[in-house]
Amino acid sequence: MERDSNEHLARDGAAAIVTIGVVGAGTMGGGIAQVAARAGLDVVLIDQSESWLDRGLVAITADLERLVTKERITDERRDQILARIEGSTRIEHLAACDLVIEAVNESLPTKIEVFTSVSDIVAPEVILVSNTSSISITALAGSVANPERVAGMHFFNPVPVMKLVEVIRGLQSSDETVATVMALAERIDKTPVQVADAPGFVANRLLLPMINEAIFCLSEGVATAEDIDRVMRLGASHPMGPLALADLIGLDVCLGILEVLHGEFGDKYRPAPMLRQMVAAGRLGRKSGAGFHDHGGG
Ligand SMILES: NC(=O)c1ccc[n+]([C@@H]2O[C@H](COP(=O)([O-])OP(=O)(O)OC[C@H]3O[C@@H](n4cnc5c(N)ncnc54)[C@H](O)[C@@H]3O)[C@@H](O)[C@H]2O)c1
Repeated sequence: MERDSNEHLARDGAAAIVTIGVVGAGTMGGGIAQVAARAGLDVVLIDQSESWLDRGLVAITADLERLVTKERITDERRDQILARIEGSTRIEHLAACDLVIEAVNESLPTKIEVFTSVSDIVAPEVILVSNTSSISITALAGSVANPERVAGMHFFNPVPVMKLVEVIRGLQSSDETVATVMALAERIDKTPVQVADAPGFVANRLLLPMINEAIFCLSEGVATAEDIDRVMRLGASHPMGPLALADLIGLDVCLGILEVLHGEFGDKYRPAPMLRQMVAAGRLGRKSGAGFHDHGGG
């Protein structure tokens, strides 16, 4: 009975959300803005400068354009979705948002700075969500007043395609916050799975050691990048190999997550030296045009 009424409250809470804010218009923030707008929400999308913001809006437009070309949506539908996304470089534009999701770079100081500025602008009960891959939601919640309104929504890349959202419950997250976030995930056509606030949550705690081990295999000359990926595609039925997946995620993002896992769990998560070298060389995967595989960027 208690549970039913909580679920009701949560559905009402998620249904009452009209406008969401998304901070960070990169790979993930742009995807989140797109799926929210497709589900009928108004979105205020914030980035730190016009050039970053434009890059994000151009990527969303190109994604929708591909859907038009494939005849999955009409021109009208594309225009409707785009009209629901308002881009801005001024965080004050989040003032009227009913919930805010941050998707800025994976850095604790940056995320704390964003959470602090957002909490100064929005109403005190507005739910604040982080799309962090590895940072503690509990630590982030500690940086704002009313930490019970903070939770994590760990989306997967590419956001418009991947169904899963890990919903992270921080130590202080209230039942209502978690339930509202779970209901919001469903409203934007995702499948939420609730997990506790532990380093790497579930997906990255399992995925990153596999990616790291694939990089060790490559650097030790056990097989080529193509063959390592082929082994896992054909032998383990993975839709893409671990090195292709690392290129998709971004090698800097992979290194950042492994560093957090290494700090928390010790040596078995030690990042492969080759990964550090690739990041130092600016070979970050698809986004830089080259990683373990060539993506046409030299
Ligand atoms: N890439 C992935 O596969 C993936 C998957 C799940 C979660 N994540 C997490 O999502 C978050 C974003 O990752 P991404 O891959 O989208 O990064 P990204 O580099 O593509 O985008 C980050 C964006 O944040 C903007 N930004 C930085 N500081 C800002 C500030 N103070 N105010 C406003 N905008 C700011 C940057 O300009 C950039 O556009 C990270 O926490 C990452 O760990 C990434």
